[in-house]
Amino acid sequence: ELHRIPHPPRRLPLLGDVLGVDRATPLQDSLRFARRLGPIFRRRAFNREFVFTWGAELVADLADESRFAKHVGLGVANLRPVAGDGLFTAYNHEPNWQLAHDVLAPGFSREAMAAYHPMMLDVAARLTDHWDQEQTAGRSVDVPGDMTKLTLETIARTGFGHDFGSFERDRPHPFVTAMVGTLTYAQRLNSVPFPALVRRAARRNAEDIAYLNRMVDDLVRARREAAGDGDLLDRMLETAHPETGERLSPENVRRQVITFLVAGHETTSGALSFALHYLSRHPEVAARARAEVDRVWGATDTPGYDQVAKLRYVRRVLDESLRLWPTAPAFAREAVEDTVLAGQHPMRRGAWTLVLTPMLQRDPEVWGADAEQFDPDRFDPKAVRSRPAHVFKPFGTGARACIGRQFALHEATLVLGLLLRRYELRADPAYRLSVTERLTLMPEGLRLHLDRRAGSA
Ligand code: HEM
Repeated sequence: ELHRIPHPPRRLPLLGDVLGVDRATPLQDSLRFARRLGPIFRRRAFNREFVFTWGAELVADLADESRFAKHVGLGVANLRPVAGDGLFTAYNHEPNWQLAHDVLAPGFSREAMAAYHPMMLDVAARLTDHWDQEQTAGRSVDVPGDMTKLTLETIARTGFGHDFGSFERDRPHPFVTAMVGTLTYAQRLNSVPFPALVRRAARRNAEDIAYLNRMVDDLVRARREAAGDGDLLDRMLETAHPETGERLSPENVRRQVITFLVAGHETTSGALSFALHYLSRHPEVAARARAEVDRVWGATDTPGYDQVAKLRYVRRVLDESLRLWPTAPAFAREAVEDTVLAGQHPMRRGAWTLVLTPMLQRDPEVWGADAEQFDPDRFDPKAVRSRPAHVFKPFGTGARACIGRQFALHEATLVLGLLLRRYELRADPAYRLSVTERLTLMPEGLRLHLDRRAGSA
C-alpha cells in the first residue's frame, strides 16, 4: 500500500533521496520534505524506505496504545551498543524494561522531586555565579554550553550524587565529549550505506563507549562502598520489584546510569537554550514572565518546591519553545497487529513510521496560520482546551513516553525563573537561529549579553 504515500522524485537507485541532502541536518531536511509532501510521506535511502508522519489526525491514531507501540529503530537502535536494554533503548518485549520502569518510576514521584529541588537550586547557583562573573567582565555568555553544564550537573547530582565539576572546567568534561561522540556517531550511521565506510569513526565510537562504561563502573563501585541519600542510583542498586522481588543486574544498572546521564540532560539543555533565545527576542514576553516571577516568589531568590509550578506563564514560554523545537524531535511507532492507520493506510504487524514532532506541532490546521510564530499564549488553558488531543508531544506518547518529564519541566522552569529574576537578556542583533542536530536539537552558537537587574542579590 506504500504506493499511495507521496515521496520525492527518485534520483539514484542506491542513494535514493539522500543526494543534495545535508548529512549534518537530517531532521531539518525531513521538515523541508514534509512541507512539500504533506502529512504522511516516504523517503528512501540506501534501499531502505522510511515513512514519516506528522498530520494531527494520523498521529492521534498512532497514539492508540492498543494498536501501536514504540518502535526501537533508526537513531534509537543505533544507541543500543551504548545503552543496551536501558529504559530508553529497550525493546518492548525485553523483561528489563518493565522491571526498570517499575523500580525507577518512584524516583520521579512528587516526593522524590521535592527532595531533588534543593540540589537543583545548588547547581543553578553555580550557573548564576558563573554568569555574574561573565557579566561583570563584560562578556557575553555561551548559552548552549552553559545550559549543558547545568543540566549535566543536575542529573549527576540528583541521580547519582556525582559532581563533574563542569563549571570549573574550561573544556567539557571527557564524559560529555564521549557522549556527544556516541550521539553524533549514532546519527551518522543513519546516512551511511555500510558501517565499514566509517571504520575510523567506529573505532573512536568504541573508545567512547569504553570510556563511558569505565566511568560508570567507577561511580557504581564508589556507591557500593558508601551509601547515598536515596537518589536514583540507590534505587537501582537496592530496590527490589514490589511484586516479584527481582533486582536490576549490575550490567543493567550500568546501562541505566548511562541512559539517565544522557537522556537526563541533553534534551533539557536544548529546551532551556531555545527558551532563552525566544525570551531574548521577545522582550514583552520576558517582561511578563519576569513580572510573574517577582509576584510569585516575592523577595526570595531561593524559591521552595511548590513555588516553581506556580510559574504558569514561564511554563508556557517553555511549552511554546518545545512546540517549535521539541529537542527530541521524533519518535517511532510500530503496528502491534495488522491494522489500518486512520482508516487510510494499511500497516502490517511490525510496520513502523517516524513521527516528526516539530511538524505535528506546527500543523497550521491545528495551530493556525501563524503556527511558525512564537506565542506562549497558545498554552493558556482555554487555548489548550480548544485543541484536539495528541497535538503536542514533545515527551513522546504512551507507556514509553518520557519518564523524566516532570523532572525536566521542574528543572527548566526553576532555572528560567532564576535567570529572569536576575538578568535582562540582550540578544546579539546579528544572530540568526541555526539549529544543530546530534539526534537532539540545539541552537548553535547562541550567545546572550546580560545586564544585572537592579535589586537582585
Ligand atoms: C523518553 C523527550 C528529559 C529520561 C523520552 C521520549 C521523548 C523524550 C520524546 C520518548 C522517546 C521514544 O518514544 O522513543 C524528552 C525531552 C526532555 C526529556 C524533550 C527535556 C525537555 C528527560 C529527563 C530524563 C529523561 C530529564 C531523566 C531524568 C527519559 C527516559 C526515557 C525517555 C529514561 C525512556 C522511557 C521509556 O522508554 O521507558 N524522552 N525527555 N528524559 N526520557 Fe526523556
